[in-house]
Amino acid sequence: MNITIKSPLDMHLHLRDGDMLKTVAPLTASSFSGAIIMPNLVPPVNTKEDVIEYKKRIQEAIGDENFVPYMTLFFKSTYTKEFLESVKDEISAIKLYPAGITTNSEGGVSGFDIDELRETLNAMSELNIPLCIHGETNGFVMDREAEFITIYEKLAFNFPNLKIIMEHITTKESVEALDKFENLYATITLHHLIITLDDVAGGMLEPHLFCKPIAKRPEDREALLRVALSAHPKVMFGSDSAPHPKDAKEASHCSAGVFTAPIALQVLAELFEDNNASLDNLQRFVSDNAQKIYNIKPIEKNIILEKEDFIVPKNYNNVIPMYAEKTIKYNIK
Ligand code: NCD
Ligand code: ZN
Repeated sequence: MNITIKSPLDMHLHLRDGDMLKTVAPLTASSFSGAIIMPNLVPPVNTKEDVIEYKKRIQEAIGDENFVPYMTLFFKSTYTKEFLESVKDEISAIKLYPAGITTNSEGGVSGFDIDELRETLNAMSELNIPLCIHGETNGFVMDREAEFITIYEKLAFNFPNLKIIMEHITTKESVEALDKFENLYATITLHHLIITLDDVAGGMLEPHLFCKPIAKRPEDREALLRVALSAHPKVMFGSDSAPHPKDAKEASHCSAGVFTAPIALQVLAELFEDNNASLDNLQRFVSDNAQKIYNIKPIEKNIILEKEDFIVPKNYNNVIPMYAEKTIKYNIK
């Protein structure tokens, strides 16, 4: 049986720049109607001009495909209300990285002092600009996300009118936090619904599954599956597809990031099917919830997934996808 998904959205996507952008952008553009584009370029997307220029390069890379890149800025506590007013129409969110926590996040925030963040976050609240956060401390790697919950709570409490999106959650603690504050939401990746730390490092090391936040325990994955498969209204799909060249992954000092763009929607459908979750919930998880949370109306685009074995290519230029050379059950028509 074929599955039709209406206007699927990827609410957390890395498209990079240059040749990499040209390789990866068409893959998402052919299976989604839009995506939230992460700003962690080198240098990061910091100004209105950066946003406009980057969006143009993305549009060039996707050609005629009907696809909307929802742009973001890289958070800085120096953004004034005046600046945000001037850039508001060009962006859908602002992404905050703790300094140095992941790929290209050196210019991020340290300390999370409410007074230091107040002006920018108040302005974002007033202008209705969602704040996306990479929520990890620099503690022990398995505990970083759970330790960050107190910061999420502090922000949610001090800025009750700010929409805060806990990006790529990986723990049961984050799932629990969702229901504690009205203004906390979350994205969940495909890979964190499927793998645990065992898949990364339990046997031979799997660099292509190494990412930030690192995959956690089976009980964490269960908690994520529960809210994703039931399409909890505060969660939405965000692939965090994060391509790196093969030699940056198959190396000592392996870069963090799993490249899922070419298989994301197909494998998500397979996952919902294998878990007997309804197609309505798949539709909510991969589009409807995000439309409500972000208050966006995506372009109309039906993606048809055909039930047909598909062998995932070994590579897309110099990038290795998740499930390379494996067979998946759906194919995009
Ligand atoms: C992302 C990247 O490579 O840009 N890496 C990752 O492991 N997810 C950054 C991020 O989202 O942390
Ligand atoms: Zn990311």
